[in-house]
Amino acid sequence: MSYSNSLIQKALDKKILKTPPIWYMRQAGRYMPEYRAIRKKFKNFLDMCKNPEVCCELALQPLDAFKLDAAILFSDILTIPDALNLGVSFIENEGPVFKNPISTASDVDDLISFDPNKLNYVYKAVSNIKNTLSDDIPLIGFCGSPWTLAAYSIEGRSSKDFNKTKNFIEENNQATHLFLTKITDACFLYLRKQVEAGADVIQIFDSWANLLDANAFIDLSINYTKSLINALKNDPITKHIPIVLFSRDPKCDTKTLIDTSADCISLFWNMENFDISLAKNSVAIQGNLNPRVLLESRDTIKKETYSILDKYNSYPGYIFNLGHGITPDIDPNNIKFLTDIVRDY
Ligand code: CP3
Repeated sequence: MSYSNSLIQKALDKKILKTPPIWYMRQAGRYMPEYRAIRKKFKNFLDMCKNPEVCCELALQPLDAFKLDAAILFSDILTIPDALNLGVSFIENEGPVFKNPISTASDVDDLISFDPNKLNYVYKAVSNIKNTLSDDIPLIGFCGSPWTLAAYSIEGRSSKDFNKTKNFIEENNQATHLFLTKITDACFLYLRKQVEAGADVIQIFDSWANLLDANAFIDLSINYTKSLINALKNDPITKHIPIVLFSRDPKCDTKTLIDTSADCISLFWNMENFDISLAKNSVAIQGNLNPRVLLESRDTIKKETYSILDKYNSYPGYIFNLGHGITPDIDPNNIKFLTDIVRDY
């Protein structure tokens, strides 16, 4: 069997399957004791990401534990801002912190140009994982959306309201667009290198889509995601690679998401209004169990999972996933339980 026969590829080809392929956003991470055992050897999270052998081992841990249908590159979306010399580090209980965030329009003008070779450690991790995976299991490469990377780079850290970012975009419209253009170009070069190294599928994470109202979402997020997808679809190296788009709680209708030309829309857990009849035959879908449900009883997990499968399992092109990433408080036994009940459904 080869990757083209994999369940994921069939779902991305919009086939109706008896059992959906399964993988989980943030499937490698602190909720797994195997991950924590390796993590404690590194002070700095990014130093761990810069070690391709370790990344390979970490990416394979959830596949060994749960027999999932896809691997995702072990890395982070903030490798691009790090390569742009914004000084990214991860501080315990605080998340990412930028030493040199974008604070003024001239910071955008003065930004160094993105050199994709600075992220060779990522492509090496891709090829290591690809060479170790059995060939019927696809490898998902990824990047943050231009908007999400811009928001982190301006805010300089995680935040509830992203007020610094909101002020910046209000006061520096031109610089904001210039910055988004620069990041879009970087994402394209970065993803093309991941594909050259062996990534079979690409996922774009628009994790801060929820910060923008309907008009700003089109202007600052969707338009740049669209040009990134367009560049990938027009490049000989990447044009056949399926693209999955995850947007967290986006303020837009189903058609706007379909019109990005993504091959698959990864649904956030609250997207009950996503119009399946409109999406049918134009995009595959992925999702969307609320990860919080995995903190509930097994009866509740089963009930909520079945209600999602009742809704989506006969959709042409369905991949089972969560509606956002696995959090560190989730019991790995519940991930095993969830995977089993989806396969037994
Ligand atoms: O299996 C996988 O998905 C692993 C690869 C992966 C990581 N981050 C590893 C990671 C992926 C695909 C990401 C994407 C990512 N990173 C996103 C998009 C997905 C989403 O959740 O919306 C975002 C927003 C980030 C940025 C980020 N990275 C934050 C905010 C944090 C700290 C808080 C947190 O969620 O843990 C990280 C650190 C991070 N990235 C960890 C891992 C395993 C934990 C680091 C640690 O062990 O100290």
